[in-house]
Amino acid sequence: MEKVYITGIGKYIPKKVLTNHDIEKMVDTSDEWITTRTGIKERHVVADDQCTSDIAVLAAKEAMADAGLKPTDIDLIIVATITGDMQFPATSCVVQRKLHAKNAVAFDISAACAGFPYALSIASEYIKTGRFKHVLVIGAEALSRFTDWTDRGTCILFGDGAGAAVVSNVPGKTQSEVLSDYLGTDGTHVGLLNTPGGGSVHPATHATVDQRLHYIKMEGNAVFKIAVKSMTEAVNGILQKNELIIDDIASLIPHQANLRIIKAVGKAVKIAEERVFVNVDKYGNMSSATTIVALYDAVRSGVVRPGDLVVLVAFGGGFVWGATLIRW
Ligand code: ACO
Repeated sequence: MEKVYITGIGKYIPKKVLTNHDIEKMVDTSDEWITTRTGIKERHVVADDQCTSDIAVLAAKEAMADAGLKPTDIDLIIVATITGDMQFPATSCVVQRKLHAKNAVAFDISAACAGFPYALSIASEYIKTGRFKHVLVIGAEALSRFTDWTDRGTCILFGDGAGAAVVSNVPGKTQSEVLSDYLGTDGTHVGLLNTPGGGSVHPATHATVDQRLHYIKMEGNAVFKIAVKSMTEAVNGILQKNELIIDDIASLIPHQANLRIIKAVGKAVKIAEERVFVNVDKYGNMSSATTIVALYDAVRSGVVRPGDLVVLVAFGGGFVWGATLIRW
């Protein structure tokens, strides 16, 4: 089996900022409520002329430059997204065209906020078996396009952004290595978090538009509890699988949906607060893009250093959850 290295990382965050005070003007909420209930202060949203593949490409270009690779070196592009450019074809095909990555095959995966750990797991298996040498793994979301800006229960939570990693069979500038992953799924709660309209259950009609079914729906309170339980299981699961204890982990990089969820998971797995990475205040929940952008920020700010053992953990609609063990 080949080893799996992360040879480059990149991110792109759209320039336009939407603060809690901006949202106060749109729905009945307050900066104080959003800050105390979620930890979010602001999020970014795509420009009118930007779509998911545009921001995916910008993150991907930085990751490829970081890896010292050209687009034609890439064998496979996986885009994790729930807000693709179109129902089909896959956004990854548009990304392949925009990058001129003509030697790459491409497909999307839909694993909501666990999109990056899931996509990284698939990429790792392709590298391990020797099938591909360089895989571009992207998490990209334009959630603002699917957010109901009249629903205060959800519109405060989400933001747009993209992150990318190049995963290779040889080390890059660093020895950053993907060591292991842990994935879980429970499809019994599909109704708690979804975008109901536009699929084969509720194809688009005037009625689905009138009923606002093309926007993200969530029963936040129920999701909150399952998110804490599932991410705790994923962290404990990956530690057990690798015969590690929490004190071996230099940084826990959790999905950034809500600061209270992050703190509850940290407490449940008994890791010191200062070893849990947080950037939810700046971006909100960017679904598939969140964990890769958090890893990027943790590395670039010097929080994660070469040799550190790091666990990424995420949870999202499905429900799906996953953790990745990386030696940076
Ligand atoms: N401003 C002011 N009041 C609000 C707002 C708001 N933005 N939103 C809800 N409220 C009110 C509610 O109406 C309710 O009022 P009531 O008591 O009079 O009925 C009260 O605040 C409490 O509402 P809850 O829903 O119980 O609030 P909670 O503390 O659970 O916070 C939140 C809501 C932030 C949505 C939280 O439940 C959460 O973060 N859930 C999980 C999100 C998540 O992890 N999602 C997973 C990934 S997303 C993906 O996969 C795409």
